Amino acid sequence: MGTLCSQSAPVVAIIGGTGLSTFEGVECVVEEHPATPFGPASASIQRVLNPAGDIYFLPRHGGDHTIAPHLINYRANIALLQYLNVSHVLAVNAVGGLGATMGPGALVVPDQIIDYTVGRDSSFFDGVVGPLDHIDFTEPYGPEGRRSLFHAAQQHGIACHDGAVYGCTQGPRLETAAEIRRCQRDGCDLVGMTGMPEAALAREAGMDYASLCLVVNWGAGLSAEPITLEDIRKVVSAGMVDIKQLLLTAAVDILQASR
Ligand code: HPA
Repeated sequence: MGTLCSQSAPVVAIIGGTGLSTFEGVECVVEEHPATPFGPASASIQRVLNPAGDIYFLPRHGGDHTIAPHLINYRANIALLQYLNVSHVLAVNAVGGLGATMGPGALVVPDQIIDYTVGRDSSFFDGVVGPLDHIDFTEPYGPEGRRSLFHAAQQHGIACHDGAVYGCTQGPRLETAAEIRRCQRDGCDLVGMTGMPEAALAREAGMDYASLCLVVNWGAGLSAEPITLEDIRKVVSAGMVDIKQLLLTAAVDILQASR
């Protein structure tokens, strides 16, 4: 595995979440790469064949969606992207909605994070696997990826919220109603389980990292109905068509912006 090298041409990686384990419908080749110093990544990476440049796809839960959020090897995934010289990451996250306008089906590009996770390997700069360092994470998401996602949403006429606080919980269970009330008091608009430490590791690796969140349920206790996997699956499959279009357009936008 190499370390981050300076580069000119952008390279984009899409990290798929729940509901996006393959990029079918788009021509891809599967590439095998050596295990990273942190162990194996979630899956073999797919390279999307696109004339605009290099676009990779990595499903964070594995190709068959079997890796739970707290067991994902986030460091290996980002180290693999770093090895491939990835400069921009577009991540997809299924989330629960807390904000009044962020119900099931809404697409949101968050601009802030609160990390409630525990015990995850969350840094390359911990003084053990790498030098001790403290990155600036005031603005956790990258401006270029965010801009390209909105631009793509506009082009496709897809509604997309600009800005939200993403609370990252440990999972794999969903939250209690009191935990969701605490998240609301903290200012969270969304809750998910996979945004951290992915975003921080990408920042440590020098990448511009943006997230496209699909709200798949109301946060626990915010709806009279119980949260069921069946309902979540329905929202996920309805939302993925738009999401794939949006991601590809945003990726190409990033690749072309530098020309
Ligand atoms: N909470 C946490 N993560 C989630 C949720 C939720 O309600 N829905 C989808 N991912």
